[in-house]
Amino acid sequence: MAAALVDSMAMRQTMGRFATGVAVITTEHDGVPHGMTVNSLTSVSLDPPLLLVCFNHGARSAEAVTAAGRFVVNILSSRQRPIALRFAQRGEDHFAGLGLEYDGHRVPVVPGALAHLDCDVERVVEAGDHTVVFGAVKDVCSREGDALGFHGGRFADVIPHGQEPEHWFF
Ligand SMILES: Cc1cc2nc3c(=O)[nH]c(=O)nc-3n(C[C@H](O)[C@H](O)[C@H](O)COP(=O)(O)O)c2cc1C
Repeated sequence: MAAALVDSMAMRQTMGRFATGVAVITTEHDGVPHGMTVNSLTSVSLDPPLLLVCFNHGARSAEAVTAAGRFVVNILSSRQRPIALRFAQRGEDHFAGLGLEYDGHRVPVVPGALAHLDCDVERVVEAGDHTVVFGAVKDVCSREGDALGFHGGRFADVIPHGQEPEHWFF
C-alpha cells in the first residue's frame, strides 16, 4: 500500500481504536514547572526499567523534559479528567493557580494520581513529527483505583473483566 494513502487523520483515527490510559508528564526546568497530558506512554523494558513517551514537535514540555533530564509520569485516575484537560490546553501555563506538590519526588507531581514513575531521560530519538523520550525509571509508587481511559478520541471508563489479574501478569 502506498504510504501517501495513510494521511495524518487516517493514522490518528485508526490508532484511536487502540485504547490507552492517560498520563501527565511533569518536569521542572530553571525553577519553572511544566506538565503535559499524553497517551503515547509505553512500557519498554522491565530489566532495566524503561518507558517511552512521544512528544509532538512543538510541545513546550518536550523541550523542558530534555533540558531538565528528568520527569515524572503521573497516571491519572478516572476522577482526573479535568486535570487531563488542563494539561492539554495549548499555550497555557498548565500549573497556573495550582500549588506545587513534590511528594518526595524531584519535580512537581499531580496529587491524587494512580501512580508516579520518577524517570531520568535515558535517550531522545527523533521520529517523524515526534520526539521520542525514553525514561530510565528510578522510583515508582502506585495505589488502587479506577483509571482514566482514552478511546476513539474520547475519555472513557476502564471496566475490568473478572476479579483477578491474568496469571502472566506476575
Ligand atoms: C488524552 C490526550 C492525550 C494526548 N497525548 C499526547 C501525546 O501522547 N503526545 C503529545 O505530544 N501530545 C499529546 N496530547 C496533546 C498535548 O497534551 C497538548 O498538545 C498540550 O497542549 C501540549 O502542551 P505543551 O506544548 O505546553 O507541552 C494529548 C492530549 C490529550 C487530551
